Amino acid sequence: TGLVTVDPGFMNTASCTSEITYIDGDQGILRYRGYPIDQLADGSTFLEVAYLLIHGELPDGPTLEAFTERVNRHTFVHEDFRTFMGTFPRAAHPMAVMASAVNALATFYPESLDPQDPETVELATVLLLAKTRTITSYLHRRRVGEPLLYPDYSRGYVDDFLRMTFARPYEQYDADPVVVEALDKLLILHADHEQNCSTSTVRIVGSAQANLYASVAAGVNALSGPLHGGANESVLLMLDKIKNAEYDVDTFMSKVKNKEDGVRLMGFGHRVYKNYDPRAAIVKKSADAVLSTLGKDDELLDIAKRLEEIALNDDYFIERKLYPNVDFYTGLIYKALGFEPAMFTPLFALGRMPGWIAQWREMMNDPQTKIGRPRQIYTGATERDYVPVSGR
Ligand code: CMC
Repeated sequence: TGLVTVDPGFMNTASCTSEITYIDGDQGILRYRGYPIDQLADGSTFLEVAYLLIHGELPDGPTLEAFTERVNRHTFVHEDFRTFMGTFPRAAHPMAVMASAVNALATFYPESLDPQDPETVELATVLLLAKTRTITSYLHRRRVGEPLLYPDYSRGYVDDFLRMTFARPYEQYDADPVVVEALDKLLILHADHEQNCSTSTVRIVGSAQANLYASVAAGVNALSGPLHGGANESVLLMLDKIKNAEYDVDTFMSKVKNKEDGVRLMGFGHRVYKNYDPRAAIVKKSADAVLSTLGKDDELLDIAKRLEEIALNDDYFIERKLYPNVDFYTGLIYKALGFEPAMFTPLFALGRMPGWIAQWREMMNDPQTKIGRPRQIYTGATERDYVPVSGR
């Protein structure tokens, strides 16, 4: 205990060793299990990346087919679970509903709870990947007051997610392949990011031997914060304010630099990247492509690009090594695909699911794991005597 030092925000504390994700923040490098993120974003699919993160190797053809089939077949949720999804207020923030829904999976699927049994853990893994896709589509349907649709597992994971989210009952719905590809790519880009706030949360909850759903639900809650996953929603609200002339770009930037009212340039800065976030570079290219293919000319994209250009040439941002992060351009794509801002962070959570699961499983199998229990340095009152209320 003589060695205890305070490290706020764990800037210099490694909580584990991990073989899953590699980041070099100075050079802007990100790899999952050794594979560069741009190669996976261009060539792979979300479920293949999920398999890679969780099991450590890319699957061969039959293995991928069997994994995909198993996930797809579990996308149905219990009828009572559909009813449960209908009990939240319509205007509730979808992240609060999502965290509750993930937690509730433990009550509907009690056969998948034992963290010690490998087959049960594999079942919980598949159930989480499958059911959160359904939950995410229901979050949107509930907000707009449309009926909850059933999965169609003859379709692909992302393709059917879009159908369940946007199709009208009894109407043929075929998502534009450009849209399917764009969303698949975004999910891949979000799939893991080593020991960020939500992933560390998942690990610390799991270190008490809590089940996978309980651990991941805690991660969803951590992700909801505006400094973490909630930033994608905040970016869009910020761009909207600028567009609606609540601020012009220059006034806004001077507020940020003077730290007035705690205003930050949302979607900028990162604890680890002190260079361009490689995910942001891919998303920016994709935003251009998606918006032009869909013929959606969004003034907000121009505002975002102007903010970026100003920031990258401004001493405040240069000195602090602040670059766009993954959240800066994602909202513009989600918006073009038809999602409202409140749905952006649930989409991040859907993408992050494989990473949370992989990290939880790695921790559970790591002989070095101990219950997470940081120390503190006490700075409160020294010993004093209790005085009854009548004497105070
Ligand atoms: N706008 C303006 N100033 C900033 C920003 C920003 N976005 N980010 C950091 N700074 C300043 C900060 O004020 C501080 O200045 P000073 O040295 O004068 O006190 C300096 O840069 C260092 O910032 P920090 O807060 O100590 O850095 P951190 O590593 O603790 O925080 C961060 C990282 C991501 C929370 C922060 O950069 C931030 O709040 N960014 C905006 C929110 C955001 O986009 N979050 C998404 C992160 S990436 C994906 C994810 O995790 O979801």
